[in-house]
Amino acid sequence: MSSSNSPSYAQSQGDADSDKFEFTFEFYLDSRRRIESDSIFEYHKEYGRTYHAYRAGSYHVPNDVIEHERQENQYELVKILLDGRLYLAPLSKDPAKAPRKILDLATGTGRWAIEMADAFPHAQVIGTDLSPVQPELVPPNLRFEIDDGNDEWQEGPDWHDIDYIHFRFTVVSWADWGRMLRVAFERLRPGGYVEMQEPDCDVFSDNAEIPASNPLKAWFCDLRAAAAMAGRPIDAVPNLKQLFIEAGFVDVQEKVYKIPVGDWPRGRRLKKMGRLWRQNIADGLPGFSYALWDKWLYRTREQIEVQLVEVRQALMEKKSRAYERFYVVYGRKPEVY
Ligand SMILES: C[S@@+](CC[C@H](N)C(=O)[O-])C[C@H]1O[C@@H](n2cnc3c(N)ncnc32)[C@H](O)[C@@H]1O
Repeated sequence: MSSSNSPSYAQSQGDADSDKFEFTFEFYLDSRRRIESDSIFEYHKEYGRTYHAYRAGSYHVPNDVIEHERQENQYELVKILLDGRLYLAPLSKDPAKAPRKILDLATGTGRWAIEMADAFPHAQVIGTDLSPVQPELVPPNLRFEIDDGNDEWQEGPDWHDIDYIHFRFTVVSWADWGRMLRVAFERLRPGGYVEMQEPDCDVFSDNAEIPASNPLKAWFCDLRAAAAMAGRPIDAVPNLKQLFIEAGFVDVQEKVYKIPVGDWPRGRRLKKMGRLWRQNIADGLPGFSYALWDKWLYRTREQIEVQLVEVRQALMEKKSRAYERFYVVYGRKPEVY
């Protein structure tokens, strides 16, 4: 979408602290945008949950406190998984070479963007989302914008020559992953990086193949089918590396992590991750299922609840030693292309 109709509901502290209170044209535009943007808070209510208002109906997962708590717990888990790192791309910390412009697409509660803004105080960080659910007290070099990443990306200096673009847990958000990567490539400065950190929505075991009849495996199969029907395909995740290459990125690196589902591993670290991940799936089941299953699989609420009972039981089962795969892929835009 163009910047002229993009609601920007939170200004950075830098703007707020500004001692220039002249009524400039920019200020006029900004306040007008805020008035127009009131409707972004008029959340859609369904299934006892709330859903985003901006571009209502395009994302099928709730935006309420239950979902935010799940995202926060998920954030902690990824922290353990990545040994405390926020990114794997080789970003320089040398002030002369460190990123100056960072973009976090589909930022959710904004936790990652906040920590990145602290880690790179000389960078301007922008976090975008369909929902205005991010905190207002944030580092001065961070701002959040309401924006649909499936639209044309905004114009303006902050949206071009970007050093680093980040996506994490954005499955079920994008109509076309290849297009997201092509646009990101175009918006990077030469030498800049894009990184995607995404789960492969399926379960596996190194013990024996998990049968399709396993309720957890079947639930993931339903999720992939419903997401595809909703126009938000998620089966691209295992092919992200190839999509990066096709978009023109070089030095593309892929790291595939196994996240245990449940506390079946022996080691303390993996056991803890398994527990957290099992809880995360359990907490996310209703939010991920209600709208997608109703609108695209034509299931009744009763049918959905019965299925979720079976999935919760399967989550407690240790024998299959189930895990989910988590892909971290990053690539560099070449200097000459
Ligand atoms: C599962 S949350 C993940 C948030 C965050 N990246 C994290 O790792 O915690 C996915 C987010 O994507 C946002 N989203 C979905 N579709 C989007 C779109 N088309 N444009 C921008 N944000 C979108 C949702 O509103 C939600 O906050």
